[in-house]
Amino acid sequence: MSDARPIGVFDSGIGGLTVVREIMALLPNESIVYFGDTARVPYGTKSPEVVRSFAIQDTRFLMKHGVKMVVAACHTASSVALDDLKAAFPVPVHGVIEPGVRAALKATRNNTIGVIGTRATILTGTYERKLAALRKNVRVESRACPLFVPLVEEGWLDGDITRGTAAVYLDPLKEKGIDTLILGCTHYPLLKRVIGDFFGNGICLIDSAEETARAIRETLQSNGMESPARSDPELLFFVSDIPAHFREVGGQCLGRPLGSVHQVNLELDELSRSRNHET
Ligand code: DGL
Repeated sequence: MSDARPIGVFDSGIGGLTVVREIMALLPNESIVYFGDTARVPYGTKSPEVVRSFAIQDTRFLMKHGVKMVVAACHTASSVALDDLKAAFPVPVHGVIEPGVRAALKATRNNTIGVIGTRATILTGTYERKLAALRKNVRVESRACPLFVPLVEEGWLDGDITRGTAAVYLDPLKEKGIDTLILGCTHYPLLKRVIGDFFGNGICLIDSAEETARAIRETLQSNGMESPARSDPELLFFVSDIPAHFREVGGQCLGRPLGSVHQVNLELDELSRSRNHET
């Protein structure tokens, strides 16, 4: 069996392209529809209720494009809204938390795992709960690193300011003796070198984007939902604000031009949806 429908991926903005990059590398036949909520980014500073309603609107938009699966590529949305999305939509929904958790438990030797993410992700305690559910005696040290997102958005992937910021955030984790660190935010894989240099060789960095792509492959394979072999999988990109910056930085992130990026207004979509429901 095979299924040529696209995979839907959403994120608060550009960061979810780190997941798209890994899906493209691992599953080159799959078509992808991506939605980046660039008008409402960041999600990581917002309340769970607000992030939840954004995540539902983002998923509704992807469903209109006939996707066979939805990937919440945003850690903040995954940590607050994944169960709601799974309950509300009739396709498999993947988040980015569980794949990273499983990989971290496999990697740690001293059972002491660090987690870094946005303030909202860390406040939910989702990573701690998922790690503890799979291994009772695991020690978890978490830290919000809110300035990492704007640094990446600015393209400051290295340099004194980025290294200094990393040192301030990560020093307490180093002192706790973690041997494995989950990069619990879409943007953080782009800071891998800076973070890795700070800890030195003794640390295993868990890139959730790679792990998520592996989990998606498993779901597609075990449900007979892989796309048939094809040379022209379609990549469609949508954003909620003007596309220029997304097109430029996104192209760098994927290592290829994105082609056309369409701007959509989810709020108008939602308005016409509720009007249709009233009539
Ligand atoms: N995509 C978000 C995450 O992975 C980071 C950016 C934001 O705060 O929206 O948590």
